[in-house]
Amino acid sequence: MRVLTGIQPSGKLHLGNYFGAMKPSLALQEENEVFLFIANYHAQTTTRDPALLRGYTQDVALDFLACGLDPARTTFYRQSDVPEVHELAWLLSVVCPMGLLERAHSYKDKVARGVDANHALFAYPVLMAADILCVNAEKVPVGKDQKQHLEIARDLAGKFNRQVDAEVFRLPEPIIKDEVAIVPGIDGQKMSKSYGNTIEIFGSTKKIRKTIMKVVTDSTPLEDPKDPDTCNVFALYKLFATEEEQAALAEQYRAGGMGYGAAKKALADISEAHLEPFRARRLELEADLDYVNDVLREGAQRARAAVQPVLTAARRAVGLE
Ligand code: ADP
Ligand code: TRP
Repeated sequence: MRVLTGIQPSGKLHLGNYFGAMKPSLALQEENEVFLFIANYHAQTTTRDPALLRGYTQDVALDFLACGLDPARTTFYRQSDVPEVHELAWLLSVVCPMGLLERAHSYKDKVARGVDANHALFAYPVLMAADILCVNAEKVPVGKDQKQHLEIARDLAGKFNRQVDAEVFRLPEPIIKDEVAIVPGIDGQKMSKSYGNTIEIFGSTKKIRKTIMKVVTDSTPLEDPKDPDTCNVFALYKLFATEEEQAALAEQYRAGGMGYGAAKKALADISEAHLEPFRARRLELEADLDYVNDVLREGAQRARAAVQPVLTAARRAVGLE
């Protein structure tokens, strides 16, 4: 199955990003033909500082490679290395009614939050449709907030096909990540950079331990039994632990006699054991940026090869060739 997903480069990754987005995307490479790209054209709608955009883009590349992206299996590229996507966005713009974009929640939400109301932000869903349709993706894993964008992509593919009376584009299906995957932050709300409640994946061990010690818990005394199912520390522990490890810690919660400090230590230990290899690998990659750039360049070549026939068919269908 051909699967595609895009990630906006927008700063340091946290455990919510890892368990909610990265790990599921990386799992797909086991059985699918995955296209994964860094949406740096899209990021321009919010990041105007060139050094920041360049840095964030490189960070995503390092983060994914450090966490296990296999470039032999996943076609990994920067969106801006596949400029054909803009030509396709234009061809889709031609069949895109204004009303479709005027109804987009994400545009209205971003403007309400103070993001510039410019044409790029308004046309964002058309570029996103082009990202997806240009490689003929069958499935697109996205968060719930992107569901409407997927519907717009399907809509535009259908309109284009009807207009030219040919199956130029395949209609992509979303894989919507379900709600249960929401990772709590140290204050118990959804972990998010906007709430300042995150635990970073690539922070130093010391910093991560310090942050974990701040995870909010209730005030049940040390000797009393505790409920693992309502505890933020346990919720985070579960993400890393095997079933047996989860059952063992849950048992200690219920038995009483274990304080939250000990549970936090268990969380710090297990997260360190999981994240340390990622951190070590990231340091190696940071020292070998030529390799990282080669991976992205080769990914872009593979992506462009997949895009070419689709774009040619679309150009022919509308009379540009
Ligand atoms: P943030 O909320 O920190 O700004 P983003 O909105 O940039 O994070 O999210 C990037 C990706 O990470 C999305 O696919 C989103 O679904 C996932 N994600 C972010 N926070 C969480 C969380 N707390 N739990 C699960 N997934 C999350
Ligand atoms: N809009 C997505 C986000 O903000 C990123 C994105 C851009 C994307 N193009 C895409 C996701 C194509 C999936 C498919 O998270």
